Amino acid sequence: MMKRIGIGVLVSGSGSNLQSLIEHIEGGRLDAEIRMVISNNPDAFALQRCREHRLPAAVINHREFHTREDFDRSVIAQLRSADVELVVMAGFMRILSPEFFRAFPRRIMNIHPALLPSFPGTNVQKQAVEYGVKFSGCTVHFADEGVDTGPIIIQSVVPVYEDDTADTLAARILKEEHKIYPQAIQYYAEGRIEIAGRTVRIRNGRRLAEKAVHNPPLTRF
Ligand code: GRF
Repeated sequence: MMKRIGIGVLVSGSGSNLQSLIEHIEGGRLDAEIRMVISNNPDAFALQRCREHRLPAAVINHREFHTREDFDRSVIAQLRSADVELVVMAGFMRILSPEFFRAFPRRIMNIHPALLPSFPGTNVQKQAVEYGVKFSGCTVHFADEGVDTGPIIIQSVVPVYEDDTADTLAARILKEEHKIYPQAIQYYAEGRIEIAGRTVRIRNGRRLAEKAVHNPPLTRF
């Protein structure tokens, strides 16, 4: 019987990534247990998802704290009291202080809706469409003290079409987010993740076939 990893999920908004984790766990495809969900936003729809699935959840509103560190200490204490092993940021719109990384060294994951290091930050689907890239996607990485800069665990690539808007691209990327985040956490639960500097290796990982993809597709070559 595979040991289930205890995760704490940090959210600020809709929570569709949280929903994907819930469904993978309930479907027996992810060896994890959601021991705590924390939202800094009292109106986050993600909290409604927690009520529907009877998950332990708390609101820690950053506006009620004088400093980022004070807020982080309260979140860290809540995660520790819930015996969280891995912190999973899922649409959590707060930058963590160095103290958070000392509390959970290499045990904080984040998902970003772009192919890092391209387009860190916010409104990245809009940036990708406006920049005119032909591929975009999403990235699961270990968070570090930079903004969207930690070692990359898994990425998924999607085409960007000429008639795409930020919303149509975001929807295409979100579908992929819901696949790669549970996969990254499953690799972690299986103890198959090795970090060497900036490189993340998956032990006994499958190797992607060497195949180039063109967008738009080649016609004559
Ligand atoms: C996702 O696109 C995620 O990559 C980004 O914020 C969005 C949150 O979506 N960090 P949800 O709240 O999980 O639906």
